[in-house]
Amino acid sequence: PLNHLKSVWLFGYGSLIYKADFAYLNRKPACIYGWQRRFWQGSHDHRGTPEAPGRVLTLVETATARCAGMAYEVTPDTFEYLDHREKNGYLRVFTTLHWLDTPGQTEGVLYLASADNAAYLGPESDTAIAAHIARSKGPSGENSEYLLKLAAALREMNEHDEHVFAIEQALLKL
Ligand code: BEZ
Repeated sequence: PLNHLKSVWLFGYGSLIYKADFAYLNRKPACIYGWQRRFWQGSHDHRGTPEAPGRVLTLVETATARCAGMAYEVTPDTFEYLDHREKNGYLRVFTTLHWLDTPGQTEGVLYLASADNAAYLGPESDTAIAAHIARSKGPSGENSEYLLKLAAALREMNEHDEHVFAIEQALLKL
């Protein structure tokens, strides 16, 4: 359904904020409303294994929330690559992106893992999530690297994220 379009904006709220391993036409900071980041998704294929899944981000619907991230303008064929890479429970969702550096908005696509997917882990305390992240690793590397790079990238953008920063603090105290 995207293939008739010349380009599509992809919104990244996780690893895509600090790393894009695909070609893109444009990159712009953006935010979405009504969603918040949560380390509630299990990762069997990137930051963990099927026997010992890591914890990575998904988005949870929350009426008053705002979530900042990075948007990439990509050609539609990029989604074939991303759909394969994000096959561990993620779905594509359309939403409105609001630019952080200029006025205006556009429609974009994001990847979201909902509570009904097989790899979903759900909520835990910050310290339990930090301990889980500290002991996990997978083909893409250590789970703690994912958390620390994400937190650093958010600080770089001057974005505060209570959930991410609390888990980072808990990890650094272990
Ligand atoms: C993200 O950075 O937005 C993202 C990356 C992989 C899967 C889902 C979301």
